[in-house]
Amino acid sequence: ENKVSVGLLGLGVVGSGVIKLIENHQEKLAHQLGCSVQVKSVLVRDLEKNRDVNTNEIVLTTNPDDVLNDPEIDIVVEVMGGIDEAKQHILKAFSAKKHVVSANKDLVALHGPELQDAANRNKCDFYYEASVAGGIPILRGIVDGLSSDHIQKLMGIVNGTTNYILTQMDSEGVSYEDALKEAQELGFAESDPSSDVDGLDAARKMAILGRLAFSTAVDLEDVEVTGIRGIELEDLQYGDKLGYTMKLIGYANFDNHELEVNVQPTLLSKSHPLASVKNEFNAVYVYGEAVGETMFYGPGAGSLPTATAIVSDVISAIKNLRLGVTGNQFIEPHFKKELKTPDK
Ligand code: NAP
Ligand code: HSE
Repeated sequence: ENKVSVGLLGLGVVGSGVIKLIENHQEKLAHQLGCSVQVKSVLVRDLEKNRDVNTNEIVLTTNPDDVLNDPEIDIVVEVMGGIDEAKQHILKAFSAKKHVVSANKDLVALHGPELQDAANRNKCDFYYEASVAGGIPILRGIVDGLSSDHIQKLMGIVNGTTNYILTQMDSEGVSYEDALKEAQELGFAESDPSSDVDGLDAARKMAILGRLAFSTAVDLEDVEVTGIRGIELEDLQYGDKLGYTMKLIGYANFDNHELEVNVQPTLLSKSHPLASVKNEFNAVYVYGEAVGETMFYGPGAGSLPTATAIVSDVISAIKNLRLGVTGNQFIEPHFKKELKTPDK
């Protein structure tokens, strides 16, 4: 049968979006790929949980081997989050010659090069477009669209939860606690939202972006981080009076052998293009030596936007599968260029 089977690890906010998108776009996928795409089985923690997605034709399981050892499954989508367990499952999937798509920036920021090596050894694809800026195709924008250029600077809003909180506080006068609760209810926040509000999620994304943009290893320790915890309504109102908007900005600059990567709350003039990026939306400004200024904008979190990045990765993997090749991976650099990181 002309069909590609996909297995999911996780069926939360993002996993549900992936199932909906694949189901709703069957006709388009068949037309695009010449085969049908089916989610066959999904690893979950709790089999009794109510799901907001139709799982009638899908096997839900608590045994990872039902996904990782199923010879019919060609592509594994990791949307369970966490580090150690997710990493073991992905390594097992590569050993079983399955292509892997992941949304897990915590894991990619920490172990990206090792996972990429395992993928290469097994001649598998490893894609993680959804790990940075949700629905914005920023990784492909950098590794494909701007591959000819010499990128010098990145600056962006790469965390939807904190941008949602700051926007709600600034324009609606909502308290920090209530805005965070809303962001959690809307499915933007991480299961432990301290990684959002303390800036770690943005730091992980900046490490991934920095590696791909500057072709140099960037460790998390290289990223200086300050989050938004402790910012009060009065701070935003005071900035507003002076014509400024507060945003959590990720910054990466590579110039003259010096790499600087940081994440910090920043007061931007209201006329700055990043100042008008609201709620869960993200935007990444990329400055290339030849292209000059470019800007990528879109929803940075949420179920269906994030699912678009994942299913696009699945489509890339299927195209490669059908051609019998691997390729177009986000190559993880292993070596640091000669770097001077700022003194801490
Ligand atoms: P989530 O809603 O908490 O869903 C996690 C899913 O994984 C749940 O279905 C859970 O099972 C399952 N799971 C977790 N640990 C498991 C384990 N040990 N064994 C079996 N199943 C397990 O999380 P999410 O928001 O979808 O995020 C998933 C990943 O995508 C994370 O890496 C996150 O950082 C990333 N991401 C999220 C967004 C977003 O907007 N939410 C955007 C981009 C990237 P149960 O349902 O049974 O509990
Ligand atoms: N918690 C993340 C955010 C999800 O708010 O941006 C998308 O990576």
